[in-house]
Amino acid sequence: MPQYIPEPFRIKVVEPIKKTTREERAQILKTAGYNVFNIPSEKVYIDLLTDSGTGAMSDNQWAGMHLGDESYAHCRNWFHFEETVKNITGLKHVIPTHQGRVAENLLFSTILKEEMVVPNNNHFDTTRANILANGGIPLDMVIEEGKDPDIYHPFKGNVNVEKLEDTICKYGQARIPLVMITVTNNSGGGQPVSMENIRSVRALCDKYGIPLFFDACRFAENAYFIKMREAGYKDKKVSEIVREMFSHVDGCTMSAKKDALVNIGGFIALNDDSLTGRLKEKLILIEGYFTYGGLAGRDLEAVARGLVEAQDEDYLAYRIGQAKYLGDCLKDAGVPCLKPTGGHAVYVNARKFLDHIPQSEFPGQSLVVNLYLHSGIRATEIGSYMFAHKDPKTGEINYPDMDLMRLALPRRVYTGGHLDYVAESLKELYAIRHSMKGMRIVENGELALRHFVARLEFVE
Ligand code: F0G
Repeated sequence: MPQYIPEPFRIKVVEPIKKTTREERAQILKTAGYNVFNIPSEKVYIDLLTDSGTGAMSDNQWAGMHLGDESYAHCRNWFHFEETVKNITGLKHVIPTHQGRVAENLLFSTILKEEMVVPNNNHFDTTRANILANGGIPLDMVIEEGKDPDIYHPFKGNVNVEKLEDTICKYGQARIPLVMITVTNNSGGGQPVSMENIRSVRALCDKYGIPLFFDACRFAENAYFIKMREAGYKDKKVSEIVREMFSHVDGCTMSAKKDALVNIGGFIALNDDSLTGRLKEKLILIEGYFTYGGLAGRDLEAVARGLVEAQDEDYLAYRIGQAKYLGDCLKDAGVPCLKPTGGHAVYVNARKFLDHIPQSEFPGQSLVVNLYLHSGIRATEIGSYMFAHKDPKTGEINYPDMDLMRLALPRRVYTGGHLDYVAESLKELYAIRHSMKGMRIVENGELALRHFVARLEFVE
């Protein structure tokens, strides 16, 4: 048998994609204000903007969609959804939402008081923004290795436990309503967190009486890395590892648009009875009754089925293998990438790729724009354009540790052939990298989530 693992599915439905010319793309970029979120998707050849809500559902999920019970309250699919989430997480209560950031908004608007602090390995941008919007202070404390794209570490998403304890001592536990761990760590390169680290953070939280929550978007991918890389887990089933991961937390927020393999959905799961009551009350106000939370019955069914499929080990071997394949192709071509390759994406080290462009001119965004111009591939920047912000007290600009271009892989959507095209395009771009220019923001640069709405131009 060959060692190569091809896609573990056959393709039953196809969606045509079309190429554009370079001249068309130059015009499209200009109209879009050099913000790739503004590009019509039909003008994108290979779309690696995000792995969120962009996956292909299985025949089993589509079959489930036809069994949607669209009753207002306590529909059949809710019971299946609730039972599945409880089985997987072992948590007591489940609150459905239509996506992850609503789960974050509900949670933080309910528990945060002014000047409270929420530590995490790395907050995702919506998590950070939801904490800030509710008067809180988001703090990142990933291990030092997690900040350096060139260092290899099997669990670069790990929390710096010493720093976490210092933080708890500095602010006092009364100011820390919960500690979060993002699995896998998206803003830090899709890097996993080890079970040992989860256990250590739990022990610290127990010592100080602070609840621990996961941002659980990519829980199955994280569990697969534990199986592959952590001593003692090789012979455990991914589903057992998942259960063990969740046994250490008091709750989680989840965007089902990632590892639940659906186009829309999310939830909060938690053990705290009283907090659940408060969250449900607010949920009814902003999302809907607490057995649908902004979703249709059919959506709940697709999530329930997707959560189980995501833990299939053939699927995960292919999924993590696909990212590694693209990462290896780029490495072979000399393109600098964050090491090791993450679970859902390959992160090109834009600061190194474009080392003639200063951070203040957004090397990551320049690379994103140039990649689209060159070959119609849409990626996203995770770096200074997304995260650099002015310190309100000193007026100084704080830059993030890394400037990356993320090539996020939608689940079960693109084949090895598409990835070869992406690798070839970047190889060609790398050869002409010195001709690329930096960028400046000309509109909406002050907004918290500016990467969605800003407009830019090249620095001439
Ligand atoms: N947490 C993490 C770690 C995420 O990656 C995301 C979304 C969210 C929370 C918010 O979930 O989109 O359902 O509201 N990440 C997407 C991305 C958008 O492209 O990485 P959401």
